[in-house]
Amino acid sequence: MKITCIGAGYVGGPTMAMIALKCPHITVTVYDLSTERIAAWNSDKLPIYEPGLEEVVFQCRGKNLFFTTDESAIANGDIIFIAVNTPTKTYGVGKGHAADLKYIESCSRKIAELVKSGHKVVVEKSTVPVRCSVAIRKILSSYASSTSTATFSILSNPEFLAEGTAISDLSNPDRVLIGGDQDALGLESIEKLASVYANWVPDKKILRTNLWSSELSKLAANAFLAQRISSINSISCICEATGADVDEVARAIGTDTRLGPKFLKASVGFGGSCFQKDILNLVYLAQCLNLPEVAAYWETVVTMNEYQRRRFAEKIIRSMFDTVGGKSIAIFGFAFKKDTGDTRESSAITVCAKLLEEGAVLNIYDPKVTMEMIKLELEYLISDERTRKLIATNVKLFDSALGASKGAHAIVVLTEWDEFITANYAEHYEQMVKPAFFFDGRCLLDQRQLQSIGFQTFVIGKASPALRDEFFYGN
Ligand code: UDX
Repeated sequence: MKITCIGAGYVGGPTMAMIALKCPHITVTVYDLSTERIAAWNSDKLPIYEPGLEEVVFQCRGKNLFFTTDESAIANGDIIFIAVNTPTKTYGVGKGHAADLKYIESCSRKIAELVKSGHKVVVEKSTVPVRCSVAIRKILSSYASSTSTATFSILSNPEFLAEGTAISDLSNPDRVLIGGDQDALGLESIEKLASVYANWVPDKKILRTNLWSSELSKLAANAFLAQRISSINSISCICEATGADVDEVARAIGTDTRLGPKFLKASVGFGGSCFQKDILNLVYLAQCLNLPEVAAYWETVVTMNEYQRRRFAEKIIRSMFDTVGGKSIAIFGFAFKKDTGDTRESSAITVCAKLLEEGAVLNIYDPKVTMEMIKLELEYLISDERTRKLIATNVKLFDSALGASKGAHAIVVLTEWDEFITANYAEHYEQMVKPAFFFDGRCLLDQRQLQSIGFQTFVIGKASPALRDEFFYGN
């Protein structure tokens, strides 16, 4: 059997590498139109960082795993995956909410142009709105002609991997979801794809559904996960005001087996390429279906997230006597979570932009993020000319946490990298301007220990009576 995949990104690359690893009898070819990206996949330095990914790619590449920019390879697949971007639309109808399906459409057209005969199983791997497969089917069938006898089945097979744990998620998934038509050909196609996963996933974990259920389940799963974070973050605000401790509350809630302990860590807000995009997509879908109450319900998950980011940045500014202008602030972490260099929708972008607006000097340290990405993200978010100018002068990247905190007035933890838990904060404190502030946006550290070193502290979801005394204006 041959498998091809269009899109060598965060989903296509690792997923295809895992299929190649687990199915040595299958030839897997990943196509992307970016020559740069494909060159990176073919080099020693892969275009994305994922623990364990290099080992898998290096083991299979050149044997049964290939990366190419040659589009003619697409038609060779018995199964053709579509794993391209579906970002939120930034223009026109549905701007700011709907998924931009232009890449899905162009892929469908490409497949229709290239495949002239035989039966192909086309798999939506990208996260798409419900009934997107109808559009793909229409495009594919519209190319049928005297010169093309090709036929197609469309399946939905959403990917649930999380960044940073992609390889373990792929090798031991909670479930594999395959949706398809419920007629004979559709069911046969579902089993064809299921037989690929069956090489390493137990059958009881391979869920078969109709197309729409599968498409909707991906959006719903991400919405539910994000909702848990917004829920615990809303509780974190109450904790700070009352003296309850958000970690204790999360533990108490999470021991209820109906709720479970995962995804209850309060934070400066969720980031990443999926949660916000997929919820907004769900909101748009509900609006289009004339379900305004449903749309409003899910929109609050994003509103809460934005509030949490803004609230944290404002807390920093207020605690530091309402003036951070010209003060160096050490930013610990810029990625949207640990173990990834990905900055998409990271809460760090909003917090840094707010501090920059106030004229702060940002000494950023993140073990995986480049200066180029930081600048791109800030430039994308900041529209005000005066603040944009400060990106060039006030944003500095350091190659160690100690370098970043030297001479700084505050440490702000924005990503939960392990090294921030084990750091010697007494050493940091020594080299900082006093009073030295510590703002923990990830509930990583023991507030009392930091206070015993001498820090003025604020940890999300924990009361900080000392800081409250510093406020000039309200709380
Ligand atoms: C998510 C889903 O988990 C995955 O199933 C889907 O396929 C893609 O979207 P990902 O975006 O890689 O994966 O990261 P995830 O680990 O889910 O974290 C998302 C954000 O939520 C991060 O910013 C993380 O720091 C934050 N988070 C997560 C919290 O703030 N608290 C938590 O308890 C968990």
